[in-house]
Amino acid sequence: MAASHLHEPSEAGPDASRVEALRRQLHHHAHRYYVLDDPEIPDAEYDRLFRELQALEAAHPELLRPGSPTQRVGGRALDRFANVRHAVPMLSLRTETDTEATGASSFDARVRRELALSDTDPPMEYVAELKFDGLAMNLRYEAGTLVQAATRGDGEVGEDVTQNIRTVGQVPLKLGAVRPELDEGHAPASTGSTRTALPVPPVLEVRGEIYMRRDDFEALNARQRERGEKTFVNPRNAAAGAVRQLDPKVAGERPLSFFAYGLGEVTPAAQGGPAFETHYELLQTLKSWGFPVAAQVQIAQGATELIAYHESIGRRRDELPFDIDGVVYKVNRLALQQQLGFVTREPRWAVAHKFPAQEQLTTVLGIEVQVGRTGKLTPVARLAPVFVGGVTVTNATLHNEDEVRRKDVRVGDTVIVRRAGDVIPEVVGVLPERRPPDAPIFTMPHECPVCGSAAVREEGEADYRCSGGLFCSAQRKQAILHFGQRRAVEIEGLGERLVDQLVDTGVIRTLPDLYRLGLTSLLALDRMADKSAQNIVEALQKSKQTTLPRFLFGLGIRHVGEATAKALAQHFGKLDAIMGITAESAPPAERLAEVDDVGPIVAESIHTFFQQPHNREVVEQLRACGVTWTEAEPAAAAPRPLAGKTFVITGTLPTLSRDQAKDLIEAAGGKVAGSVSRKTSYVLAGAEAGSKLARAQELAVAVLDEAALLALLNTPA
Ligand code: IVH
Repeated sequence: MAASHLHEPSEAGPDASRVEALRRQLHHHAHRYYVLDDPEIPDAEYDRLFRELQALEAAHPELLRPGSPTQRVGGRALDRFANVRHAVPMLSLRTETDTEATGASSFDARVRRELALSDTDPPMEYVAELKFDGLAMNLRYEAGTLVQAATRGDGEVGEDVTQNIRTVGQVPLKLGAVRPELDEGHAPASTGSTRTALPVPPVLEVRGEIYMRRDDFEALNARQRERGEKTFVNPRNAAAGAVRQLDPKVAGERPLSFFAYGLGEVTPAAQGGPAFETHYELLQTLKSWGFPVAAQVQIAQGATELIAYHESIGRRRDELPFDIDGVVYKVNRLALQQQLGFVTREPRWAVAHKFPAQEQLTTVLGIEVQVGRTGKLTPVARLAPVFVGGVTVTNATLHNEDEVRRKDVRVGDTVIVRRAGDVIPEVVGVLPERRPPDAPIFTMPHECPVCGSAAVREEGEADYRCSGGLFCSAQRKQAILHFGQRRAVEIEGLGERLVDQLVDTGVIRTLPDLYRLGLTSLLALDRMADKSAQNIVEALQKSKQTTLPRFLFGLGIRHVGEATAKALAQHFGKLDAIMGITAESAPPAERLAEVDDVGPIVAESIHTFFQQPHNREVVEQLRACGVTWTEAEPAAAAPRPLAGKTFVITGTLPTLSRDQAKDLIEAAGGKVAGSVSRKTSYVLAGAEAGSKLARAQELAVAVLDEAALLALLNTPA
């Protein structure tokens, strides 16, 4: 979309020309989204343009045209697939983007008004569902056999994609039984329903969403990258691309899933079709016929329960294995749905209540290069502040040179920023048509931007590193912060701002300098109050008593994370033993490799670290400053009942924090991993456990609660 389309003056008045411009843009973007499966802008941006047009048309009804994007459902059938005229039009949903309370309440209020209910009438009954972020599909069954699958298209005419949909394992090709007494057990076992299914009507159109699970999406993109083929921006585009793939063989290689949420044409009750009274009953029946229905479907009484549903799903959104962009509320009684009817393109009995968008547009104000603790240079995009995924984002990592090249991000660019859950914000892509003509290509500096030392990219590595080591103040600052962090020796109050000041003013250069800090030098710092200075002195004093794993981890040896530090401490017992063997000139690989988790690269890194005289000096000086640590008993003596076991922790435990549980497991020789796989020995689950628990059940991995873990810890190996 060209910026010059905006606000063109015209004889018809500024509003008329704006309406024209918006229609042109919306047509363009709808075509990219629905027809080409290759959108240029995030949904939130499309919605914003759409709403602006709606508002202008409402204010100037004389400008309304039947062809306006506001008057029709987005897509248009592609010519390459046969067209299918839908027996019952496939409509769209009105969208609420307001906060929990207002979004749900205004829908409830509208429904009650339309049905002329008064305040004394009982709450309206709704079904609350997930709003899947995929593409709508109409599956037509005749005599229990799938005969046609069609996309929504413009709502009236869609595309016949039957061949491709046949490859989707979750779409039943034949329904269990057309009449219950004929049931020969064709229904997939996964339906979980044991009650007698209603007979399948002779004509049955099931509507639902074709989508791609996030893990399937990641795997597909990894494969595409390997083959040097185009990757997909998000699971929805990948799903849409697969459905519209002309070659069903290729489509079949792209794993799709399906959820049912409604019906199209069905044999009328008068001719022997089903007579449902509620939407909920309809969904349960679809499940009994073998269609996947999301487990999160819930009955909700009145606005209060809709609000609670929106809130609870919003909290768990990122734990689901697939993308959703909101929830959907539907009036449960079908008779009431009928009474409420439709307006233009949307039913009055349902609404989509969206979550804050996880993708937004913003501009790149600059690209800075940050220096990490180990000297790694990371390009970071400074962004014009943008509200995305529930927070204001002002910068996003660009990872490394290859990533910046691949995405071709430049200063001045308009970019799509994505922030999902707690994942750090990411630049998904650039809108090249909005690039300023003189935007320079980004190149990584060949000097460290902080200390000026050479920045080198080793063969086979993705990162540039500053070669300045502790000469580089950025690396020194990071090393100090790392040493003082909670999981290392823990120096409370030693934050980024303080470390910046201490290093920039030259008060400290090395770790031991920390322990030479007195009240006077602290008080000389900018904006340092008596009390804070006192607190820091006390925190430093307290941190002097630590443990060997914390101390080792705090030293910041490359590749030595917490788990490795613990394993080393367990195995060797004393720091001198580790320093001793690594000081030997012969490669220490065999001795170090006896330790769990320590491979050749890690062994080499530990060896190199302790070979450097200045690192040994740091350890000696820390000792001289009074830093002491309790040294663990060598492994042979310590009981390790969980040796060889891998745990995944999920949910909230009754008494232990996750960190405490992790410490206990590791102290007993176990490992803690982030995701459940067939290799997981146990899943430790607390309250509100989400998808990890479900995954454990799927893979038949043993699930423990806190009490069972504690019992295991007390069992000899
Ligand atoms: S019901 C007449 N239920 O949202 C209303 N739609 O904007 C029919 N969608 O095209 C739609 N999850 O692709 C319904 N639980 C759900 C849904 C859902 C996702 C999509 C669907 C539809 C669009 C409506």
